[in-house]
Amino acid sequence: MLLEIISLLSFLLVRQNCNAIKCCATVPDYYRANGNCWDNPDAESTQTEILQRWGAKVDEHFLTTDDGYVIFMSTASFNKTKSTPVVFGHGQHHNGDSFVTNYNKSLVYNLLQDGYEVSIINYRGSKYSKGHVNLSYSDEAYWNFGFHEMAVYDLRKCLEFIYSRNKEKSIYIGYSLGTLISFAYSSTFSEEAGEYLQGIISFGPFATLSRVRSLFNPGLVIWPAIRPFFKLVFGNYLPRAEAALDIASKSPLGWLFLEFIERLPIIGIDLGQIDPSYKPVQVFLFEDKIPIGVLDQLSELRRSGKLIQKDYGVKNMEVYGTPTPPVYDLSKIIVPNALFVGKGDFLGDPNEATFIYEQFTNETQCGYVLIKLDGWYHGDFLWAKDGIELLVKPVMEKIKQLEQNSC
Ligand SMILES: *[C@@H]1O[C@H](CO)[C@@H](O)[C@H](O)[C@H]1NC(C)=O
Ligand SMILES: *[C@@H]1O[C@H](CO)[C@@H](O)[C@H](O)[C@H]1NC(C)=O
Ligand SMILES: *[C@@H]1O[C@H](CO)[C@@H](O)[C@H](O)[C@H]1NC(C)=O
Ligand SMILES: *[C@@H]1O[C@H](CO)[C@@H](O)[C@H](O)[C@H]1NC(C)=O
Repeated sequence: MLLEIISLLSFLLVRQNCNAIKCCATVPDYYRANGNCWDNPDAESTQTEILQRWGAKVDEHFLTTDDGYVIFMSTASFNKTKSTPVVFGHGQHHNGDSFVTNYNKSLVYNLLQDGYEVSIINYRGSKYSKGHVNLSYSDEAYWNFGFHEMAVYDLRKCLEFIYSRNKEKSIYIGYSLGTLISFAYSSTFSEEAGEYLQGIISFGPFATLSRVRSLFNPGLVIWPAIRPFFKLVFGNYLPRAEAALDIASKSPLGWLFLEFIERLPIIGIDLGQIDPSYKPVQVFLFEDKIPIGVLDQLSELRRSGKLIQKDYGVKNMEVYGTPTPPVYDLSKIIVPNALFVGKGDFLGDPNEATFIYEQFTNETQCGYVLIKLDGWYHGDFLWAKDGIELLVKPVMEKIKQLEQNSC
């Protein structure tokens, strides 16, 4: 509510003439009558439309998982010259649009331009992946999943599909929760993951969230106490803050309030990497639902301090043969792993990344890369103004290394 009021005030300070998302070259341009501004159609576009506007040929896939969920994955290419498919997996609170909201500074754009075929997964429950063979999106039963199901059903299905289509191992690039999903999958189905994957690259990875500066850390400890109220107020998921984002996307003051009030406590802040000419689209296209089951599972990790699998309570004996859940054993992973970590990242905290990296075997450790900018925070993996130098180039190097098995 506070966010809405403040954003509304900042909105009034800005010249308004239409509903389209207006982008301007610099911050002062937003407040000038004759500022260097233009309408950007991306905010009202789908993932496919944005990719097509870049000049890509796009195939839309709707894949049905073994538990009946219909997952949307877009596969794009310019002029394909590279054989290794690259697959992107998004984080919590979002969908695959994450990876196409920094125009030609997006890693996806640069990979396409370099001749790679890129697929973008949209995990269950998000904007593009609402289908199920038997259940409706509004059914209680539809929402009965955590990140475990995104790993062993959604990611698994998508990788299997890409492998059968290309007959080539792919490289998975995960962001935020998308990293934990790949660890859960590749430790659970380690042999199979070794057949489908040439490597895993993780942006801002986290595990149990016990070592992070984010407010999420204490939040997940007290989650069981908050949960009943959350359920009563929101139901099965935390919805997107529709009105607030719409308003906040329209002016620099709006972005600032969003960064300080909503983002800073959770992921950190790095005002230096804001690109004024694209920020409105990034604000407008960000946020999707947070399923309650994902929060449940993250809370289990946080409270146990271990990478435990889903806790079925009294049914653990039946499911696992043990009274408590076993852990996701990262030393079982046989796919090479590289982590990209930011010092200013409150969620994918360097301490958390170290905890993860040390669990990989020496053979699968393919680099713990600290981004060369002190303030680099969680959002910079998607939106950084200097993303080409700081992220795209080092990642391209890492991809070549993984392709040549030379970690
Ligand atoms: C969907 O419903 C059919 C018929 O009731 C059932 O056989 C099938 O197992 C269900 N599939 C899933 C994924 O729940
Ligand atoms: C693909 O190659 C064709 C022919 O060389 C060229 O005309 C076209 O611009 C290229 N497309 C992209 C997106 O690079
Ligand atoms: C990205 O696009 C902008 C605007 O069209 C252009 O000025 C810039 O040179 C492009 N950058 C790269 C790296 O292609
Ligand atoms: C793995 O690496 C660690 C630290 O670099 C080293 O202490 C250990 O001996 C290595 N183990 C093997 C089996 O190479």
